[in-house]
Amino acid sequence: MNLSWVEINAKALLANVRALRENVQKNVTFCSVLKANAYGHGLELCAGILQREKATDWIGVNALWEAETLRNSGITLPLYVMGYTPLSDLEKVFSSDARVVVYNQETVLRLEELGKALGKIARVHLKVETGNHRQGVYEHEIPSWIELLKQCPHVILEGLSTHFANIEDTRDHSFAREQMRRFGGYVLLFSDAGMSIPFLHCANSAATILFPETHRVLVRTGIALYGLWPSDEVKREVGEKTVLQPILSWKTHIAQIKSISKGSSVGYGCSYRAEKDMIIAILPVGYYDGFDRGLSNTGEVVIHGKRAKLCGRVCMNMIMVDVTDIENVRLEDEVVLIGRDGSEEITADEMAKKIGTIHYEVVTRICEGIARIEV
Ligand SMILES: Cc1ncc(COP(=O)(O)O)c(C=O)c1O
Repeated sequence: MNLSWVEINAKALLANVRALRENVQKNVTFCSVLKANAYGHGLELCAGILQREKATDWIGVNALWEAETLRNSGITLPLYVMGYTPLSDLEKVFSSDARVVVYNQETVLRLEELGKALGKIARVHLKVETGNHRQGVYEHEIPSWIELLKQCPHVILEGLSTHFANIEDTRDHSFAREQMRRFGGYVLLFSDAGMSIPFLHCANSAATILFPETHRVLVRTGIALYGLWPSDEVKREVGEKTVLQPILSWKTHIAQIKSISKGSSVGYGCSYRAEKDMIIAILPVGYYDGFDRGLSNTGEVVIHGKRAKLCGRVCMNMIMVDVTDIENVRLEDEVVLIGRDGSEEITADEMAKKIGTIHYEVVTRICEGIARIEV
């Protein structure tokens, strides 16, 4: 028996993809972003569902090892690596048949060297700087990139991309529009040099949902696949037009039930003191599993469709909750950490707000070793 497990609702995932694709023209390539263990939802599981149901055209990951993992699990879809690929790993770009983002000329030179030796072609997507100041090259560097690419017959510039800095956290989209304008300028530089680039892309979830003009040739959609809104602002702006449903439930079982008397303390630091005689349940998850320690004394779980509050600090592998007012609680009863049970629901967003972060972080931090199960 798993100490805790994550259930992934495949139907909900597919419904989210359908709802998102309704915003996108049929000829636009849909790239599902499954980096960070599919935002904690399970890389191989989510990729397997999307491939089986022919729901996505491409899959985006952060690292080459994720692309290799997917190839080893039978994923044949085009894979796009969006993070940094160390020079020493570039040979695996060929063996895993992935395309990679580039923003260092050293990467292209090494790919050319390897491609020549192997008799293979590498497909790269150049990331350009439009205001995010993360990965990306500046406009004044483009002439030298064009020169370099002309001298590298084993490297094909398949894509040109950029990433929005401020599209979801605001309803003022002037910064995003300026980034789009700058991106258009880069596209012109390449077309003026007689280079046509098949894949132009900049849209993340917020852009996929809000701005058809950003879709270009490919959209890279992440958080919304999982039924989580990029932000409250995007949700408010969209209203009822796009419906998304969370696809993840995180569950555990009760490991012990005990009575404690008024005045007893619970857990490390004696940070919780019982104000009355109580019954508490011990649950076998803790911060190691990704249950944030910031939820100490404030988090809640759902048991038998009722909320139970955390007592004391979150431990490495355990938490304690107040079940005094919940009837018929028994050893190994199911407990919902994230998800719905009857009319009660704990969302990743609720947890995130309690600990001062975003739901992206709450779900991606659910420990990779915890089983992900399709339901
Ligand atoms: C380069 C890139 N593209 C697309 C995405 C997907 O963004 P979102 O999850 O907001 O859809 C990410 C995620 O951080 C990203 O880093």
